[in-house]
Amino acid sequence: MATRGALLSEARLGARAMANQQQGGTLKHFVGKVTDTIGGMVGRMGASMSTNADSFVENAAIGDMYEITAAKIALKRSRSEPVRAIAEKMIEDHTENTRRLQNKLSTSEARDVARPPQTLDSRRQSMVDHLEEAPDDSFDSTYLDQQLMAHEETVTLMQTYRDSGDHAQLRSFAAEAAPVVEGHLEDIKRLRSMM
Ligand SMILES: [Fe+2]
Repeated sequence: MATRGALLSEARLGARAMANQQQGGTLKHFVGKVTDTIGGMVGRMGASMSTNADSFVENAAIGDMYEITAAKIALKRSRSEPVRAIAEKMIEDHTENTRRLQNKLSTSEARDVARPPQTLDSRRQSMVDHLEEAPDDSFDSTYLDQQLMAHEETVTLMQTYRDSGDHAQLRSFAAEAAPVVEGHLEDIKRLRSMM
């Protein structure tokens, strides 16, 4: 039979293992946040230079895909009604945006433009991974922080291409998409400031 001392020492070991695991999780989450922030800055810089049709289409398509993927995770994990409402709006608006981009690309004027990728790039995939790994108690803030950065990047992408893009069909796509993503950015900023 285990003595009281042995039980206590076992409990202590168990508690320490749990604390280590907790610290490991927190550290991993912190590193994920820093990586996302640096990635967001790099992405925004790239978006400010996306005046070429191929790179614009690639970035716009991946942006839509990332937002839809992140929103589906938010609908699975968040219990906050306003966060869930934002996620639903992102799925609706970015599914529509993807359809509009495909329509523009199916016109004869756009036949020379590269087709959009079907999978996320490594930067956006790692944002999705960090979101999936976020602890329950910081899920909503992680989702909104990522959305804030992603929308700052997309607003820059759409405004830059609308003003200086090299393809008329895609310039008109960007001009229609810009106010939609500007509206998303305002909604996300408002909600983040209340949390
Ligand atoms: Fe959005």
